[in-house]
This record gives sequence, structure tokens and C-alpha cells, in this order.
Amino acid sequence: MSDSYLTLSFLSPILALILILLLFKRNQKPKLNLPPGKMGWPLVGETIGYLKPYSATTIGDYMEHHIARYGKIFKSSLFGGPAIVSADAGFNRFIFQNEGKLFECSYPRSIAGILGKWSMLVLVGDMHRDMRTISLNFMSNLRLRTSMLKDVEKHTLLVLRSWKENTKFSAQEEAKKFTFNFMAKHIMSMEPEDAETEELKKEYVTFMKGVVSAPLNLPGTAYRRALQSRATILKFIEGKMEGRVQNIKEGNKIERLEEDEDLLNWVLKNSKLTTEQILDLILSLLFAGHETSSVAIALAIYFLPACPPAMQQLREEHTEIARRKKQAGEVELTWDDYKRMEFTHCVVNETLRLGNVVRFLHRKAIKDIQYKGYDIPCGWKVLPVLAAVHLDPSHFDHPQLFHPWRWQNNGSGGRMPNANNYNFMPFGGGTRLCAGSELAKLEMAVFIHHLILNFQWDLAEKDQPFVYPFVDFPKGLPITVQRHF
Ligand code: HEM
Repeated sequence: MSDSYLTLSFLSPILALILILLLFKRNQKPKLNLPPGKMGWPLVGETIGYLKPYSATTIGDYMEHHIARYGKIFKSSLFGGPAIVSADAGFNRFIFQNEGKLFECSYPRSIAGILGKWSMLVLVGDMHRDMRTISLNFMSNLRLRTSMLKDVEKHTLLVLRSWKENTKFSAQEEAKKFTFNFMAKHIMSMEPEDAETEELKKEYVTFMKGVVSAPLNLPGTAYRRALQSRATILKFIEGKMEGRVQNIKEGNKIERLEEDEDLLNWVLKNSKLTTEQILDLILSLLFAGHETSSVAIALAIYFLPACPPAMQQLREEHTEIARRKKQAGEVELTWDDYKRMEFTHCVVNETLRLGNVVRFLHRKAIKDIQYKGYDIPCGWKVLPVLAAVHLDPSHFDHPQLFHPWRWQNNGSGGRMPNANNYNFMPFGGGTRLCAGSELAKLEMAVFIHHLILNFQWDLAEKDQPFVYPFVDFPKGLPITVQRHF
């Protein structure tokens, strides 16, 4: 055997080994710099701890513990998959700004099961854009200033006039009655006194219990009952739709003038949505527009009595508005009156900041993302926690304090100067910013106007808002009222 043959046979296994090592190294992914955190138990991860109920004016033990240990951006395993949780204002903004580019809305499948696959909350891309356009049209500035303002006031008075002095009742139920009646009117021209409205409301209560329950589609569960209610509600809306389609086809005169202006008619005349899509759109708007603002109103009723100077300043503001109206011989509130409710706007902001009606949002990364040195792998859930920013002392002085004055002079003045709007995101942001944010603020301000002018109220029983993760008052916020005059 020649020397070269010997050398070759000796070297070839070594070369092969080097080649294999090189290939292995090439195939190996670079080590990711994931945010700190732990993944918890198999399958459930840390979901049980994350969803454990806690007081709504706090961020809860889970967030407190995790932020203290890992910082404002951490990893975990939640809702059945790996997740990045963010209590960081900058990262939350980054998420909103990159909706559709780096992140996508990604609510758990159970939400789609109950709200429907065409619900705005679960849609992405072009279909979401089309539905959003319809919703924004429905709540346009012009409609807000005209028919909506008028009806918000009418429905507020309808609820408040039914209140009896010195009788304990649930303020949360009353707020729900108001927002439900208002939405049912603007969506399908339904009147609060009608039997069908009451029927629909009853079904809706069962439906809501399922939305907030564990998604177990088994006999006897709240989720199963909610799915049945969903079917009943959709059947009802479909019945209304068929009547309208018939009227439009035959050119019949509509029964009520407002019908021509409601969402159902608008969608039937101006969109190419299928029946299934219209049903889901209507159901999800009823849900989005009713549950959230009613909780926000209940929160204001809860926070205000604990802050007498705010009550006093509100009373002065609204007495002055009422005085001007009387002088001008006006009865109904106008848009100018609404704009004059400056301190009320501070109260509305402060209620939303401290109460955090929507605590966190569901997103997922649709690309591999790098943020401030951290890697966020494609497909991971990303949860921007709005409440954690609103209750962060580095953004809001004494965040647990109900202090509406922090919002005066656009948040740059007053006694608490660092409440800037930049970190205030109760309505989310970017291309999915709440389509009903202006309506919600209008509802809160008009309700407060008539409430403060007419009543003094006290909490009849100790109750406080909890996060389940939907914000709710366990006892329904029982109050008693006394009329001023
Ligand atoms: C205080 C009351 C309210 C709060 C705190 C609130 C909060 C939010 C938040 C945080 C989102 C974003 C969800 C996400 O990005 O995943 C949202 C979306 C939405 N909200 Fe509201 N909301 C309120 C009232 C209303 C009202 C009165 C309506 C009227 C129907 C409404 C309709 C919607 C709709 C249609 C969307 C979906 C927007 C989209 O995906 O483009 N909301 N809301």
C-alpha cells in the first residue's frame, strides 16, 4: 500500500466527522434570546394562575410577582401555547403599530365558537377591514352628534326615572339595561318597552354567562347553554332580517322611521355581506357595545362616592350646564353641552384608567420578531396587558388613587403632572382601536350628567370590582339613592 493511500484512509473518517459536524451546526437554529420567565405545567402552563380572579384596581398577584421577578416583558405558557406577556407601554404600542405586519389578532377558539367566526374580534385581514368600515360608519361622528346623543340621553332618563328612593338595587344591572336598550335600538330599532326586547335581553344574559365561563361544551355547562342562546338570538335577528329584506324588495313603507337608519337596514342596503356574516356582525356589536360601557358606568358609580371633591366638582359642572340650558330655553343636551363637560371627561378617563374594563388583548407573532434584544418566535401568543401600564407608578403617580385631576390640561398640568395620554390605551390601538370609543365616552358622560344632577347615592353593601378576567361586581354593585329635589 502506498503512503498516500494510507494517509487518505486515515483522514477520510476525520473529514467525514468534520463534515457531519458542520452540517449539524448549519441545521442547528441559533440560540434564541427569549424574554425571561417560566413555562409552568405541561398543557395548562401558567393559565390557572394568570386567570385567578383579583381586585380590578390592582394588577393581581400573578402579574405583580412575574413583573417583580422577570421585568415588564416575560415569557410564559398561556391559553394552550407559548406566550410573551407585556406590561411594557412601549412594547404594547409597538404591537398596535405593527398589527397585520408583525402581529395578528388571535383570540382563543372558544371566543370564535361563541361570538361566531365572522365576529370582528376574531377576523383578520380584508374581511376585518370591511367589517370595521361598517362599524365605523354606524358610529360616525355625524351619527354620534345627532341621533346617538339624543338616544343616549333618552335611554339614560328612562333608566334613571325608574329608580326608587331608599330601595336597594343593582347599579350594574341598571347600567346594563341602559347600554343594552340603546344598542338594541340603534342596531335593530327595538324599543325598550317591547316584549321582544325583554326576551332578547333574557337570552343575552344566558349568552354572556357562557362567554365568561370555561369553554366546556358538555350538557349542563354555562358554555353549552350559551351556545343554545346564541342560536336563539341569531334566529331572532334572522327573523328581523327577513322582514326587512321583504320590505326592501317590495318597496314597502317601513314600520318605524328609525328603521331606515339602523345598522340592520344599513348593512342590508349597503354591503354585500352574507346572512351568516351579518348575524355575527350584529351579535358581536351588541356584545362589544353593551358589556364594556355598562361596566365602565358601574365603575364610575363605584369610584365617585369615595371621592367627595370629585362629586362636588362634577355637581358644579353639571349644574352650570343645566342652568345655561334653562336660560336658553333648551331641554335636550347638545354636542356643545357635551364638549363643556370638561371635568367629566377627566372622570371618564380616570374611571377607565383605574377600572381597566378590558385588561389585556390577544395577539400572536406572525413573523420572527426582535424587540429590544429579545426574540419573539413566529406563532407565539403575545398578550399586551393594558391594565399593567395604567397601574404602573412609573407612568401614573399613585396609580391606585382615583384622581381625575391628573387629566386636567391634557394631562400635562394639574396636581399629578405625569398622566400623559401616550400611555393611556383603554381602547387598544392601531388598526383595531375600539370602533365604539367615542360612543362609550359619550354614554358615560351623559349618564353621569343626569345621575349627578338628580341623585345622591351610596353603596348599600360592600362590593368591589373583580377581574374574572371580565370585570364584574360579585354582588352587582347594590346601591340606594336619594333624589335631590
Ligand atoms: C368603556 C367601553 C369600552 C372599552 C373599554 C372598549 C375597549 C375595546 C378594546 C380594548 C378593543 C380592542 C380589542 C382588540 O384589539 O383586540 C375594542 C374593540 C372594539 N370595540 Fe370597544 N370598548 C368599549 C366600548 C365599545 C362600544 C360602546 C362599542 C360599540 C359597538 C365598541 C365596539 C368595538 C368594536 C366593533 C371593536 C373591534 C374593533 C376592530 O377590531 O377593529 N366598543 N374595544
